[in-house]
Formats: sequence, structure tokens, C-alpha cells
Amino acid sequence: MAQRTKILTLLREKSVGAQVVLMGWVRTKREGKNVTFINLNDGSTIKNIQIVVESGQFEDSLMAGITTGASLRVSGTIIQSEGAGQDIEVTASQIELLGAADPEQFPLQPKRHSLEFLREIAHLRPRTNTFSAVLRVRHAMIFAVHDFFNKKGFVNIHTPIITGSDAEGAGEMFRVTTLDPKSPPLNEDGEVDYKEDFFGKETNLTVSGQLEGELAASALSEIYTFGPTFRAENSNTTRHLAEFWMMEPEMAFYDLNDNMDLAEELLKALIKYGLENCQDDLEFLNKRALDEDKQKPQHERSELSLIEKLQFVTDNDFERITYTEAFDILRNSKPNKKKKFQFPVDEWGVDLQSEHERFLVEKHFKKPVIIYDYPAKIKAFYMRQNEDGKTVGAMDVLFPGIGEIVGGSQREERYDKLLSRVKELGIHEESLWWYLEIRKFGSVPHSGFGLGFERFVQFMTGMNNIRDVIPFPRTPGSAEF
Ligand code: 4AD
Ligand code: MG
Repeated sequence: MAQRTKILTLLREKSVGAQVVLMGWVRTKREGKNVTFINLNDGSTIKNIQIVVESGQFEDSLMAGITTGASLRVSGTIIQSEGAGQDIEVTASQIELLGAADPEQFPLQPKRHSLEFLREIAHLRPRTNTFSAVLRVRHAMIFAVHDFFNKKGFVNIHTPIITGSDAEGAGEMFRVTTLDPKSPPLNEDGEVDYKEDFFGKETNLTVSGQLEGELAASALSEIYTFGPTFRAENSNTTRHLAEFWMMEPEMAFYDLNDNMDLAEELLKALIKYGLENCQDDLEFLNKRALDEDKQKPQHERSELSLIEKLQFVTDNDFERITYTEAFDILRNSKPNKKKKFQFPVDEWGVDLQSEHERFLVEKHFKKPVIIYDYPAKIKAFYMRQNEDGKTVGAMDVLFPGIGEIVGGSQREERYDKLLSRVKELGIHEESLWWYLEIRKFGSVPHSGFGLGFERFVQFMTGMNNIRDVIPFPRTPGSAEF
């Protein structure tokens, strides 16, 4: 059997006259008087290849089976195209129908479908231009993450997915158990006895790999994790998933400034990689975003196109301000004074909501913003306590259209300070003994952050809803596929 050529390779490397075997799915078929044109796509590129068939060349029954969605194996010769829109096409010498797609039932038509509709057929949506482009960009970004850290000498660590701790202390965890829900074993107090459970204790799906990442950084200096994380928060927003991927670098000997520098460098490097390596897909997504924008009222349209936004981020320094500076800007802002914010900004210490973050990024600074030194009471227990006794060395990176894309901090490396914080918050100390103990043996200043991978892919692709940048989204009430 002749070797299969992928369409991407064909377009890049093969020249007129070459014999090729193609395999892929039919996008469209157009029957002319003397010839039929079949547009074939195999997912290697957003581009299709046009297959040319002479009338009467193949059996009518074969030609009838070639409908949108059907899979084909085509042998043929590359020729110069006479039609507009492509340089080359393939004249078929042989076609095999691998799998038909009954046109009465196949839900995808060669036209634009709504993203909501496509979510209901997530098993087929990778067959669309938009999703295949998003998935290829997503892949490129995964590769770019590993490339970035590998070049810097960071060690990739697989942190556990099943854990016994709540890294963020937010209590938004999915329980992991093998106990029978109908009749679980009970202890003397009549409560479920998790000693009888699979791990002999209560366990859950991890909300972050950070705590274990810190252990590894306390030996290897610079590490990163990149894995799935799970949060049972009941937020049905365009930026929240119950299962999402996070990359979390953790660095010994880094202070908060070093941490911010690394986050900015990483984000710029990933975007640059995308601009250089995903041109066809980004051009498609750019056009898609422009079309979508045209549907909006004038004042809601973005000033920059997707590609311009990406270039803007790589070309400009991020603004860095403290929480207190951000608070002052917000308190004195027009929307706050005119009571346009859903959550008013009146008292120092309030948590910043996405409406505030987006105001700062999109209206005030008009560029990515890093806010640091947050009030301790709105941040996690492990963050380093500042001298002022009120704030911690936290930092969030805020992006246009997204809000918070990175959350991180310098960690509290002082045993006593960490322990008193743990006690103050009523955190189950015993489950964290190992995390505390690492502060006793060669403890070092260290820092890290988490980049929400889907939020980043949203920014990279211009997709508005986070459900549209992950192949199979998990959200409240939805775990089909
Ligand atoms: O700010 P978060 O909660 O920080 C942590 O989990 C730290 N342990 C990270 C660290 O310092 N190693 O989450 C980090 C990022 C957020 O900025 C956001 O981009 C993303 O993860 N994120 C979500 N993405 C999608 N769906 C959700 N439900 C998310 N929750 C957080
Ligand atoms: Mg956060």
C-alpha cells in the first residue's frame, strides 16, 4: 500500500505530478457538468484539498456515497489547479469509501453552526474548521509550554491527581471513594468511616499540584507541573470549568518579582510561539473573531483584531500595581461612582471581581496588568506574609477579555508563620504535616504560579466561552461524552 500523505505535507512539500494517497473526510462535494469536485480535510491543516473526478469515472453508487462527513481513501496525481482559491488539486485515479455518513442524519452541514449547537455534538465538533483550529492551537501551546521550561532547565513533575489535602483551602473538591454510597461503614459517632475507604482516609481530586510541586522545587530548584485539576465550584461562567488543565511552575530562590518576571516571560513566549507556528489557524480564527465582532453593537466591538491583540501582548510590558493601587483606581473610577459595578468597591480588602479586573485591563490600562500584594484574608494560607501584617506576596496576571489568567505568590517559607496561619484558618494540620515539615529542613524562599491553560487558549484563539477550547468540557450538570 502506498504511503498516506497528509494534506499539510502535500501542500508544503509535494509538487505537481507527484502520486499521492490521501485519507480524510469530505467537507463538500460539487457536481459540475463534466467533473465533480470533492473537498477533503484530514485535520492536519485548516486547508482542504480539492479532489477532481471526471464524470462517469467511477460507479454511480460510489459517487452517491461521497457526501459531507464521509471518509475516503483517494489515490491520485497532483495537478495545477485552474480554479480560484487553490494552487494545486488532485485528480483521482482511485477512490475508496471507507465510511459513509448518511446525509439524512449527519448533523454537520457545510455552513456555520452555532457554538451552542456544536457543544451538544461534541463528538463531531472537531470536524469543524473552528474546533480543529482551536485543537491544533491548543496542541501547539502544550508543546510550547514544555519547550519553554525545558530550555530553561525546569524539571517536569507529575503531581498526584488523587490527594488528601485541599491545596487552595476553598473546599471545592470532588470526593474520591470506593465506599458503597447506600450503606457506608460508620464510626462510633455515626459518621462515614473513611478509615475503611480505599486509601484509609478521605481523598479527593486535586485542585492544584502546587503543594507537591513545592516539595520537588525544594530539591530540584526549578520544576513545573502540567496536569488536570478539578474544582466543584458551581459557577456557570464563560471562564470556569469543573475539570481544567493548569501549569504550575515552582522555583526555589525566587522572590515575588522574579515570579512576576517569569510569568510575563512565559506568556509572551507562548504567544510568540503561536504567532510563528500557527499562522493558518490564527488567520482563520482572526477572521472568525472579526465576523463575530461585526454582529455586536459598535461600542462592544474590540479595537484590535485577535492577531493584533496577540502582538500587542508580546510587544508591551505588563503594568504592575499593588492591590492597594488597584483598589484606589477602582474606588475612584466612573463605573464605581455611578454604581455600575455589580460589586461596589468601597472598602479596602474587598475581593476583586472579574468586572473590576476587566475594567483595569480593558478600560484603564489597556494592557495586561499584574496585581500584587493582596490582602491576606482574600488569599490562600500558603502565601508569604508581608511586613505590614495585612497583605501577602500574592500576584495575579489579568488579561483583556479574560480577567485572571495566572494566580501565584511567594510562599511562606518560615515554619512558625506558616503554622500560625494554618491554625488561624482552622486548616486540618495533620493532613499537611509533610508540607509544614519541608519548612524545617533547609527551607528556602520560593515562589510559583498557576496558569489556567484553557483561559490562556481562550485568549490565544479569541474564543469567548471556555467550553469551546477544551475537547470535552466538564461543567455543572454536564459530563456527556
Ligand atoms: O488562582 P488559582 O486558584 O491558583 C492556584 O491554584 C495556585 N495553587 C497556583 C499556584 O500558585 N501554583 O488558579 C490558577 C489559575 C487561575 O488564574 C485561572 O487561570 C485558572 O487557574 N482557574 C480556572 N480555569 C478554569 N476553570 C476554573 N474553574 C478555574 N479556576 C482557576
Ligand atoms: Mg486565583
